[in-house]
Amino acid sequence: MSINFSDGLEEIPVVTSSSVLPEDVGEGSLRPRMLNEYIGQEKAKDNLSVFIDAARLRNEPLDHVLLHGPPGLGKTTLAAVIANEMGVNMRITSGPAIEKPGDLVAMLTNLNEGDILFVDEIHRLNRAYEEILYPAMEDYAIDIILGKGPSANSLHLELPKFTLIGATTRSGQLTAPLRDRFGVTLRLELYTVDELRRIVERSADILGIEIERDGAVEIASRSRGTPRIANRMLRRVRDFAQVRADGVITKDVADMALSRLEVDKSGLDSLDRRMLRSIIEFYNGGPVGLETLAATINEDSVTLEDVYEPYLLQQGFLTRTPRGRCVTRKTYEHLGIQQLGQQEIDI
Ligand code: ADE
Repeated sequence: MSINFSDGLEEIPVVTSSSVLPEDVGEGSLRPRMLNEYIGQEKAKDNLSVFIDAARLRNEPLDHVLLHGPPGLGKTTLAAVIANEMGVNMRITSGPAIEKPGDLVAMLTNLNEGDILFVDEIHRLNRAYEEILYPAMEDYAIDIILGKGPSANSLHLELPKFTLIGATTRSGQLTAPLRDRFGVTLRLELYTVDELRRIVERSADILGIEIERDGAVEIASRSRGTPRIANRMLRRVRDFAQVRADGVITKDVADMALSRLEVDKSGLDSLDRRMLRSIIEFYNGGPVGLETLAATINEDSVTLEDVYEPYLLQQGFLTRTPRGRCVTRKTYEHLGIQQLGQQEIDI
């Protein structure tokens, strides 16, 4: 299928053209650069290293890769690691940043042989523009129509061989034709406490922060499976360690700091607890539909589903049923609320 690109071809798209990420500049980067520095996601890394070695052996670009999983697990970092391992440049954009078909065309035609195009939040790419990607991904070519009516001209553009890496928190929202064009699909999982502990220790080392192992475990076990949160907490705990202690992050310092930040022993923050408490107080423990719950606590339902739910589900504080979300016995115990229905049954 051809698309008319007369509108917007002249516009320059928003692209960062290197594998150095904007947030890395100025901050001794905590991001691992190579696979052997990347902690966790063992299954994804194992498979990826085979695909990277094979592509390098054949002197070909890597097949297109779809990375999916909850936010903060390192999808952008992993894409940059892939670029470094392949020895190529990465250009970064995101689904919502592509406002016109011309943005996407300009980005594709500016790639060099072997480059990686990283599209974050690819599920938010305009459906009509997806069709540009199909021949680009399959045949490294695009057909564009310039002008309108009888004077319109069709232009066939060959593209350099490139790798598209798409990242999404919601792979279910990708259309089947787009999803099918990714040769490699990797699901990133929440990190274990031990993996997060190693990430915290590595980050502390890079930032020159003194931390005891128990202090790192305390931060790791309260970071809801997410390196981005662990690294953020490390910085905040360091503030407390320097101002309220002798600068060393011990278990006690980490506990004091995280309690002050209202992150409880299970890593739940005030919004997690408000969400769980509302299900109990207003819906007798559930089931309650996501939209209803979001309206009750005045939060965005997508944020609840993508950011908050994965950890609550993994930790067994929440279950999903066809009729909505329910809390569990563990939730009542954690919040110190008596489970009335259960008590009546028990009696
Ligand atoms: N920093 C953030 N994520 C990381 C990871 N997976 N491995 C090492 N350092 C990290």
